[in-house]
Amino acid sequence: ATQRTFYEEVGGAETFRKLTATFYEEVAADEVLRPLYPEEDLGPAERRLRMFLEQYWGGPRTYSDERGHPRLRMRHHPFRVGPIERDAWLRCMHIAIASIDAETLDDAHRRALVDYMEMAANSMMNSPV
Ligand code: HEM
Repeated sequence: ATQRTFYEEVGGAETFRKLTATFYEEVAADEVLRPLYPEEDLGPAERRLRMFLEQYWGGPRTYSDERGHPRLRMRHHPFRVGPIERDAWLRCMHIAIASIDAETLDDAHRRALVDYMEMAANSMMNSPV
């Protein structure tokens, strides 16, 4: 039998759509994060995060087809990401993860997602303040 990917196990495209939609609703209202985004329309940024996460967790590889190698630390260089930005980003992401119901995302999968986001947000920091 073929192995199911994490992406499939947590509900596929619909789950990642809801996750990133809720995340960007929070970003839009966050006074630390919102000014960092160069575009008035957050839609394209939402789509890039969604494609990246889908690919990371074993879903479609649309992100790399469109954007090439992720090089996420490099792509964040234009933005100062210190502890305040990291905390704001994680606050939004924790709300987004909490918006996915327990039937779709069981405890183990939820834990894996939270752990990854915390690790990734820490690794994205490029400023001590
Ligand atoms: C892009 C902020 C962490 C994934 C961006 C952009 C900003 C930003 C301002 C540009 C928006 C755009 O795409 O046009 C931050 C801040 C973070 C953070 C303040 C705080 C820690 C993360 C983490 C991930 C991530 C942890 C992955 C798990 C992405 C992706 C893009 C992006 C995939 C689009 C890259 C591309 O151009 O293809 N981020 N980010 N970010 N961020 Fe973050």
